[in-house]
Amino acid sequence: MIIKKELIQSIINSHKGLKKNLIAILLDIQAAYNYLPPESLRLVASRLGIPLVDAIGVATFFRAFSLTPRGKHTCLVCLGTACHVRGGPRILDEFERRLGVAAGETTKDLRFTLETIACLGCCAIGPVVVIDKEYHGHATVRKVGTILNKYQKPRRRGARTQKSRSSRSATP
Ligand code: FES
Repeated sequence: MIIKKELIQSIINSHKGLKKNLIAILLDIQAAYNYLPPESLRLVASRLGIPLVDAIGVATFFRAFSLTPRGKHTCLVCLGTACHVRGGPRILDEFERRLGVAAGETTKDLRFTLETIACLGCCAIGPVVVIDKEYHGHATVRKVGTILNKYQKPRRRGARTQKSRSSRSATP
């Protein structure tokens, strides 16, 4: 990915270019790109005057950071004990099948990152799936498609019009 050096510099400037603000700087870059591009780490290290290994160390220590591109939507399937016994693994299988990725991976179109979690702290409504902080309780395999549809790209208006025209013309 080609990063915008001016954007990275403005983020660094907004944190006064101070080493002690490294985490805040990386959080802002992560928010801008949805991950930490390697070039951004090099630039931050050089502008803050710290070894690159220190920037990488922070970026790999905290779970909030990702060094690989992430999907626009993060889909968390709970596999904690309560969700597990109520069918969590089958729900995960269905997400993997529909998205074409395994847990921990991101779809090629960068739309979804699929992850698992041990417990979300709301076992009473399990099995639970969380997408972008939106909770979907009492999830079932059959609901997976409906849940995902909420986050799919809206259809283009022209495409829908075209389809309805052709179906109308096919009607006797
Ligand atoms: S085990 Fe899934 S919310 Fe607790």
